Amino acid sequence: MTKYSVKDLLNSTDFNREVTIQGWVRTKRGGKEIAFIAVNDGSTIHNIQVVASIASFSEELLKKVTTGASVSIKGTLVKSQGQGQAVEIQAKGIEVYGTADETFPLQKKGHTLEFLREIAHLRPRTNTFGAVLRIRHALSFAIHSYFNNHGFFYLHAPVITAADAEGAGEMFRVTTLDLKNLPLNPDGSINFKEDFFGKPAYLTVSGQLEGELAALALSKVYTFGPTFRAENSNTPRHLAEFWMIEPEMAFYDIHDNMNLAEDLLKYVIGYALDKCGDDIRFLNDMYDKELLNRLHHAIKEPFQRMTYTEAIEVLKASDKKFEFRPEWGSDLQKEHENFLVDHFGKPVILTDYPKDIKAFYMKLNDDGKTVRAMDILFHYAGEIIGGSQREENYDTLLRRMKEMNVPAEEMKWYLDTRKYGSVPHSGFGLGLERLLQFTTGMTNVRDVIPFPRTPKNAEF
Ligand code: 4AD
Repeated sequence: MTKYSVKDLLNSTDFNREVTIQGWVRTKRGGKEIAFIAVNDGSTIHNIQVVASIASFSEELLKKVTTGASVSIKGTLVKSQGQGQAVEIQAKGIEVYGTADETFPLQKKGHTLEFLREIAHLRPRTNTFGAVLRIRHALSFAIHSYFNNHGFFYLHAPVITAADAEGAGEMFRVTTLDLKNLPLNPDGSINFKEDFFGKPAYLTVSGQLEGELAALALSKVYTFGPTFRAENSNTPRHLAEFWMIEPEMAFYDIHDNMNLAEDLLKYVIGYALDKCGDDIRFLNDMYDKELLNRLHHAIKEPFQRMTYTEAIEVLKASDKKFEFRPEWGSDLQKEHENFLVDHFGKPVILTDYPKDIKAFYMKLNDDGKTVRAMDILFHYAGEIIGGSQREENYDTLLRRMKEMNVPAEEMKWYLDTRKYGSVPHSGFGLGLERLLQFTTGMTNVRDVIPFPRTPKNAEF
């Protein structure tokens, strides 16, 4: 039996041949003589129409062909006589693998995204999530492909680590200690020498530090893996488990870094438009009529580049009443990011942030007040990329670590890179889910990852 995907058959003009498809019934309708069965196998957003003559099949079998049931259908591929599709299958044999009764929750169209989040185990069967998951695949594939084509090596950074790479203290602990019977030191503190790794260990918040070690040998590397943050942020942009892509390049300054980031983003969004056109069109029509325009604009027009200080001036000069007053020295709020992206009508790259609101590893500028940070802001997603040129000077880095209470003695291995053959280098972190928010028009980050992990939610 030759198997075909629905996508292959919908694009075929090789009619009057025997084919078999396997998938899930989306709808069944029809009258006394003919049943029309729409089948989807996830290969495309479109269903294939199967025409079954009622007389050819037992009533008992056809009763089992309901929305949600899984089927294998053998038949002849023909040019469709009906409207709305180019091809259809005239069924000769139907096998039902698994039935789905009237309790199947996806009986009708138009469920809210909130409802679908509650049934995240079934939502991949909807048009929306099928589209999101296919776009997620395309973007991931394009990212690997971009780096491979540009001489980068894929580095697998560890998931378990003892270092807080961002110095923000938002880590999930990893332990095998018995929580009901913790080994204690004489002073009452927990004796982590007894723990699996002989010291406190956590899930990584970023693969950057390991990326830097490898970049100072292989020149250009990137990581692409899950990262974990125990920040209690219940927002449409934050996940406790998200996927991050972190390129790290030796001999790159902040300008090289910005150019790479912009080129990468344009390439991967262009790839998604090219490979997932039908899915993006569906999302455009369903959720955001500006989506396609915005994506085309983003890949064509240069991003707006400016310093943080200039951005604060733009915010201050605007007539908009912000909830939080823009002040030099404070983090930009979501409303500020949104304003800047709308104001310029394109993605914005901001550089040279105040040192006190950024991580210890960023290169200090000559003014002693700002660091060579680089954030990229996008519509919907806000900060899609955070990165910087790194501090390559041993003494300055050590001083910054002390100033920011980063335990330098535990990170001797990181400091060693600045001791032996240090070079100017840069990198950034791209949040896959934030990139997906931009590409799919989904306003909530929970709707672009198969099984979201957020505070008080680790279902499925
Ligand atoms: O700006 P962040 O915290 O930067 C780093 O982790 C650096 N180590 C990256 C580097 O220079 N190699 O995070 C980078 C990106 C953000 O811009 C955002 O897209 C995403 O990761 N991100 C999150 N996405 C979803 N949920 C969260 N809680 C996120 N936190 C960060």
